[in-house]
Amino acid sequence: MSNDTAILLENVSRVYPRADGTVRALDGVSLRVPAGCSLAITGASGSGKSTLLALAAGLDPASAGRIEVLGRDVTAMNEDQRADFRRENIGFVFQNYHLLPTLSVWENVMMPLVPTSPDLLELKALALHWIERVGLAKRIHHLPGELSGGEQQRVGLARALIGEPTLILADEPTGNLDQANAGTILDLLFELGGGAHRSVILSTHDPAIAGRCRHRVHLVDGRLVSSTLEVN
Ligand SMILES: Nc1ncnc2c1ncn2[C@@H]1O[C@H](COP(=O)(O)OP(=O)(O)O)[C@@H](O)[C@H]1O
Ligand SMILES: [Mg+2]
Repeated sequence: MSNDTAILLENVSRVYPRADGTVRALDGVSLRVPAGCSLAITGASGSGKSTLLALAAGLDPASAGRIEVLGRDVTAMNEDQRADFRRENIGFVFQNYHLLPTLSVWENVMMPLVPTSPDLLELKALALHWIERVGLAKRIHHLPGELSGGEQQRVGLARALIGEPTLILADEPTGNLDQANAGTILDLLFELGGGAHRSVILSTHDPAIAGRCRHRVHLVDGRLVSSTLEVN
């Protein structure tokens, strides 16, 4: 596979064991997402959107099939290797923001690079740069609980962008926001996370949001039922 592909899934399944039997969250999904484009994953609640994004991010292992991200086989990596790969290449945005409640805006944004940054002052300056880009310069010392939902997601976005990832994965990034805040977050996501060789993949059940992406794939019960992407 050449580096013009952001993500390649080959017959990927994810089965979760449960007391009342197993759940097939993803069922034989194959797709190829070209680099440098945006993709919306649509589908009803429980259709497998979050599972697909978690697998692509290496947050969760596949049960079967093969996943290449930016030309690297993440299904061949162990958990530590996936974590390193994710830190270097992927920014993840969560519906519920996932900010650390006892850390300030500034500290939350610095967080992903703390383990690998030798110069703390430099890292603080970099975090400030990204906080300014999302329009929160006046909130740097605030705790997440002191911010609105839209502001919290802007922090989540700055934290995802600070490492300048090639790939942004966003799981219903505006699912908890009103329309005005959702619009602002999407504008920032595409403006700051997109670009020539960078890709933005988001999940949504909102057709208007999906319509802002270049490509769309639709899941029903863990299966890919329609797609604007070319077949592998
Ligand atoms: N950790 C888990 N353990 C058991 N079942 C899970 C787990 N994660 C997801 N599922 C199940 O997998 C299916 C797909 O879930 P999910 O990917 O979260 O869907 P979506 O994001 O589209 O709402 C659902 O039936 C869900 O209950
Ligand atoms: Mg979900």
